[in-house]
Amino acid sequence: MIDSHSRKIDYLRISLTERCNLRCRYCMPEEGVEDVGHNRVLTLEQIFRLVRAATQVGFHKVRLTGGEPLVRKNIVKLIADIAGLPEIDNISITTNGILFADMAEDLKSAGLKRVNFSLDSLVSEKVSYITRGGQLADVQRAIFKALELEMHPVKLNVVAIRGFNDDEILDIAQLAYAYPLHVRFIEFMPIGDLSFYSPEKFISIDEIRAKIEQKYELLKGKDIMGSGPAKYYNIVGGQGSVGLISPISHHFCDKCNRIRLTADGRLRSCLYDSKEIDLKLALLNCSNDEQLLKLFTKAIETKPGRHQMQEGWGTENRRKMFQIGG
Ligand code: GTP
Ligand code: 5AD
Ligand code: SF4
Repeated sequence: MIDSHSRKIDYLRISLTERCNLRCRYCMPEEGVEDVGHNRVLTLEQIFRLVRAATQVGFHKVRLTGGEPLVRKNIVKLIADIAGLPEIDNISITTNGILFADMAEDLKSAGLKRVNFSLDSLVSEKVSYITRGGQLADVQRAIFKALELEMHPVKLNVVAIRGFNDDEILDIAQLAYAYPLHVRFIEFMPIGDLSFYSPEKFISIDEIRAKIEQKYELLKGKDIMGSGPAKYYNIVGGQGSVGLISPISHHFCDKCNRIRLTADGRLRSCLYDSKEIDLKLALLNCSNDEQLLKLFTKAIETKPGRHQMQEGWGTENRRKMFQIGG
């Protein structure tokens, strides 16, 4: 469906849970997050019903996020059900990778097409620090498993944080040279656990590109499958690519193609816009899908043209990244 700003909205991001087996410092507080409780979270049957309704207004791409989507029980069955919908041509997940390697074959057999991994450092102590206990070796094993299963394109998400991984930009970019990986640097957004955020930690995508160009020649590349928010560059002579995601310095709202469904069943038309439509409630009141279609249409029609992230946005009491689904 086309929204009121002439954008085609066909990508639904679904958060399966706010819970996570890690607690990245930029995302969650040390004590973790309050459990939203079983009856506030959408059941897998409800999620499937909503996806089926969404396909009727033109959604054909689904990404499962979180929290950590792989901690949600029966995710393999949900993926199989969604992949079985004829209108869905792409189902993917964004994961921290910790549980992925052992589940990978089942996920692939169920119909999972693609996976994006979060990884912010190549030094084990630093991974353990930023994730509060995650093991680099688990994530590496996951990445190689995805490559082995040819779940191309395999993407890595790297949140760029000054004083933490700014000294590793070239080492991380080198992964795209050595392997068929798409390494995406993301500008740090004040949208998670704000006690870790500070403006000094922000590194712009322009600075990152300049650092990479000290060593590698970057050529503007085609968009890599997924048409997400990254601008891609091929590394001359390398196998993969470098993607730069700049929500802060050059927002990409004019190309936005997505809306989000939160774990507690709210439809959100923009990451930064607090307006939400309560689908959990609608599900209880609708015996057929007609009303649900109307609510998806409403979310698309009221999607803002661009985000209004002003100075101080992050200090307000808004829903956090792990609640919205990244
Ligand atoms: P692909 O389908 O592979 O292109 O996925 P993707 O980039 O849409 O998904 P992923 O979950 O890997 O998202 C990467 C990161 O990009 C997110 O965590 C955010 O940091 C950022 N991002 C994704 N969508 C949006 C958006 O709509 N607005 C903003 N500001 N940032 C976004
Ligand atoms: N700023 C930028 N990216 C973030 N992510 C989580 N929190 C932030 C933040 N504050 C990224 C994670 C993950 C993706 C879903 O969002 O690295 O890959
Ligand atoms: Fe978990 Fe992802 Fe948040 Fe890290 S960024 S705590 S892996 S949800």
